[in-house]
Amino acid sequence: MSAPLGKFPATRMRRLRTNSAIRRMVAESALTASDLTWPVFVKDGAADLREEIPAMPGVFRLGLGALAQEARRVAELGVPALALFPATDSALKTADGAEALNAEGLIPRAIAAAKAAAPEMLVLTDVALDPYTTHGQDGVLDSRGEVANDETVEILTRQALVLARAGADIVAPSDMMDGRIGAIRRELEAADFADVKIMSYAAKYASAFYGPFRDAVGSAANLGGGGKRTYQMDPANLREAAREMALDLQEGADMLMIKPGLPCLDVVREAVRAFDAPVFAYQVSGEYAMLKFAAAAGCLDERACVLESLLCFKRAGARGILTYFAPQAAEWLKKQGDI
Ligand code: PBG
Repeated sequence: MSAPLGKFPATRMRRLRTNSAIRRMVAESALTASDLTWPVFVKDGAADLREEIPAMPGVFRLGLGALAQEARRVAELGVPALALFPATDSALKTADGAEALNAEGLIPRAIAAAKAAAPEMLVLTDVALDPYTTHGQDGVLDSRGEVANDETVEILTRQALVLARAGADIVAPSDMMDGRIGAIRRELEAADFADVKIMSYAAKYASAFYGPFRDAVGSAANLGGGGKRTYQMDPANLREAAREMALDLQEGADMLMIKPGLPCLDVVREAVRAFDAPVFAYQVSGEYAMLKFAAAAGCLDERACVLESLLCFKRAGARGILTYFAPQAAEWLKKQGDI
């Protein structure tokens, strides 16, 4: 039986909003540093390299020394995890993305640097080939120029193993090939990496909001006009996302991720309703850019808008958020307490 509808003035909704203490007492969700995962771009070159990404003011491609410093700082702010992305030297890119399998490559060395500086920090790494391919696609191409599913899965499985061996705590396949979660899970089990966690980019849409990221990792020019619509999802679809997520859980994913973030709060909500596994949302590069440039133009209060956007993911039921604002948000939260 549902509660009887309250009648004015017996029910005054504003009574529970009269001051901060009562608002905090009845708040249904909260944001803490533990909710945040920080995506970081790394690059070879000078160890102290900090190269700002024009489309993402305040976000830098970091040399491995700078990464170590930042990992320490951000761990001390209470952020539990970071996600590494490589800006690969273009000379190392090939059609088959072989550099993704290099055990001494940039990401394996970045994992080691982050772990040495902040042993308690979880390191998440993407499984996909786009930072390593000359064509900028997430997999290898067949004779028609299409991304070949099964051949790609085979390579991604080996990439996941390289990352696990390098010390990744969480591997996050972001490629949207069919069957990759099961293949990666089997490979990790067989190689004695039973504890390595899989966060699947389960519902990843073919979104224009990834634009600044592709500049950051240097895949935009390689991709040219080519899109990813034959493997990433059509933004029109929600039921399809539910099927994707169910499949990834069946295949052995530990956690689900949905991206982009705010455009997909309905998908987050659906995931939380339908599944008991932890659900994460990725506030992607284009979302970061929107907030950042609007704030820089004086149109938005950056702190208020960023914290509100992150809290809304929590309200939708997300267990956590991957966000480029993680260090800044954690600092704000430390100063003011949870919002
Ligand atoms: C690579 C990958 C992308 C993002 C995360 N992993 C880009 C893409 O699929 O084109 C996007 C992240 C962002 O925009 O912040 N497969």
